Amino acid sequence: MSTEQAAGTRAEELLELAERYAAHNYHPLPVVIAEGDGAWVTDVEGERYLDMLAAYSALNFGHRHPRLVDAAHRQLDRLTLTSRAFHNDMFPLFCRDLAELAGKDMVLTMNTGAEAVETAIKTARRWGYDVKGVEPNRAKIVVADGNFHGRTVTIVSFSTDPTAQEGFGPFTPGFEVVPYGDVDALRTAIDGDTVAFLVEPIQGEAGVIVPPEGYLRAAREICTERGVLMMVDEIQSGLGRTGTTFAVEHEGVVPDVYILGKALGGGIMPLSAVVADRAILGVFKPGEHGSTFGGNPLASAIGIEVIDMLREGTYQRASAELGAWLLQALRDASLPQVTEVRGRGLWIGVDLDPAVGTAREICERLMARGILAKDTHESTVRLAPPLCVSREDLGWAVERIVDVIGSA
Ligand SMILES: Cc1ncc(COP(=O)(O)O)c(C=O)c1O
Repeated sequence: MSTEQAAGTRAEELLELAERYAAHNYHPLPVVIAEGDGAWVTDVEGERYLDMLAAYSALNFGHRHPRLVDAAHRQLDRLTLTSRAFHNDMFPLFCRDLAELAGKDMVLTMNTGAEAVETAIKTARRWGYDVKGVEPNRAKIVVADGNFHGRTVTIVSFSTDPTAQEGFGPFTPGFEVVPYGDVDALRTAIDGDTVAFLVEPIQGEAGVIVPPEGYLRAAREICTERGVLMMVDEIQSGLGRTGTTFAVEHEGVVPDVYILGKALGGGIMPLSAVVADRAILGVFKPGEHGSTFGGNPLASAIGIEVIDMLREGTYQRASAELGAWLLQALRDASLPQVTEVRGRGLWIGVDLDPAVGTAREICERLMARGILAKDTHESTVRLAPPLCVSREDLGWAVERIVDVIGSA
């Protein structure tokens, strides 16, 4: 079957095919999307929905942003892949632009977020042995409970979510989990073998959990005092999502290592990166780490455009302003079914009273009203529309969200 013939397949058949042929590692809402434009998508039957998940923030600039699509088309017509065995004419420019955006010296590119986190872990361990002088194979990385950093065996080794771990052991040693937001626990956990503290500035998958004010600043101070790398996973929180380029900026914190992904590829290509100074990323020598597709010219060309869009600051401002409006509108609704509304920028978690049903049920009802949102855990609905969403679209959405949750 050609892709042109495939385009006419009906939703029912597509859902059945997915059920039969695709591994059941996700539980998607029963909507089959055929087209996307800005903050909106259209399903195979022509129904329109406001996308309030934005592919877990990979679509910060919306679906098919014209600047990004143009950059991709131009590059598709020239060169798509070289591997890193050779240089290409996009990769060095992308690395320079990203390093400058983050105010660091160097970039190491990968594809998915999990690969970037793995890369950061390898970086910290190698730095620990070569620079800090930790005894071989003793390096420890401190992480926070409730974390979500991806799905590889090493990363799920320090997950505190039983669903992520069960049945996948044996696990990788070398991690210590401390409570998220607890400065004293972090201080206590750090010992002479500790090479890094790996943390999300806001925990997304845990339910858009914003840590107590001052936590990241205190963590920064502790890491500096104890000679430990502060590595922030900004894969979901970064690149405009919270109203600033990086979420750590809300506390004026500069980490040692940024871990980026998702929106870096403009919602078109997987593109992730670790960004740090030469004293840290300089530990790698040829052959010690890499990826066939990492830093490919197509992804790099899109990444260059993404960074250019972020330099202008309009998406960050839109996220801050619209996010503040959305948060207030949802709080003002004072729904008895809602126990908490929290967030930063256009990234909001709505906690439901479990007595009114699950967040999944609410998301199904929202879908029937033209809104695509995603539950996390049993009772949190998270809202993270593309940053190009309009104020009118959000007003439209709030009416429906309040109606759906208010009648649950
Ligand atoms: C904070 C964070 N880190 C890492 C990842 C993993 O990224 P990927 O799914 O691209 O491997 C995610 C994905 O949701 C994330 O939110």
